[in-house]
Amino acid sequence: MNTQKNNIIIAPSILAANVGNLAHDIKYVVNAGADWIHVDVMDGSFVPPITFGDNVVSIARSATAVPLDVHLMIQNPDLHLERFKDAGSTRIIVHQEACQHLHRTLGEINSLGIKAGVAINPGTPVETVFDVLDLVDLVLVMTVNPGWGGQKFIESSLKKIAHLKEHILKIKKNILIEVDGGINNETAKQCVEAGANVLVAGSYIYGAQDRKMAISSLKK
Ligand code: DX5
Ligand code: ZN
Repeated sequence: MNTQKNNIIIAPSILAANVGNLAHDIKYVVNAGADWIHVDVMDGSFVPPITFGDNVVSIARSATAVPLDVHLMIQNPDLHLERFKDAGSTRIIVHQEACQHLHRTLGEINSLGIKAGVAINPGTPVETVFDVLDLVDLVLVMTVNPGWGGQKFIESSLKKIAHLKEHILKIKKNILIEVDGGINNETAKQCVEAGANVLVAGSYIYGAQDRKMAISSLKK
């Protein structure tokens, strides 16, 4: 894994990459300092768009050795966990709102021998994941409503991040707090101050003239 300056992990979202040139676009950001690659899987039901399947995770796995952070914005993720694991996911993140039996789903991801994360939408209280923190190494606090890149950061996420951080410190667990949506050099700073340590960014990195500079501006 790359050196993580200040312990801040940068995970570019390939939603904003050129899918026609995906392997190149993944290698490019890894060479420019990205720590992980974030893959946004959407099913056209939990969120309106349809994006990537496990085949795209396989392409990403062949392109790089860095951890693949696979964000499933899909209903009934239980049906697909094994395929996403076989494709090379390092971590599978499922949405609290998409799981009928969240505890069981996270247990199944753990039993596949990979890391499990849980995500919450901007409208979901953070306390709704407190009872599954034993089963995850990461909580993803969505800072936009999931579905599209390039949306505006939702400020009220900051107090959720701070509340989660406080709880994690209280229960003495080693859990990462990831943010995703509308992350740029300014919102990144606010999120890190609130307690986030993993920053997902799509348009800010892939839309930049200088992707290396964009990544290092997030790490500062
Ligand atoms: C949104 C996705 C994000 C998206 C972020 O549903 O989960 O990962 O790619 O895009 P930006 O960074 O452009 O807001
Ligand atoms: Zn995402």
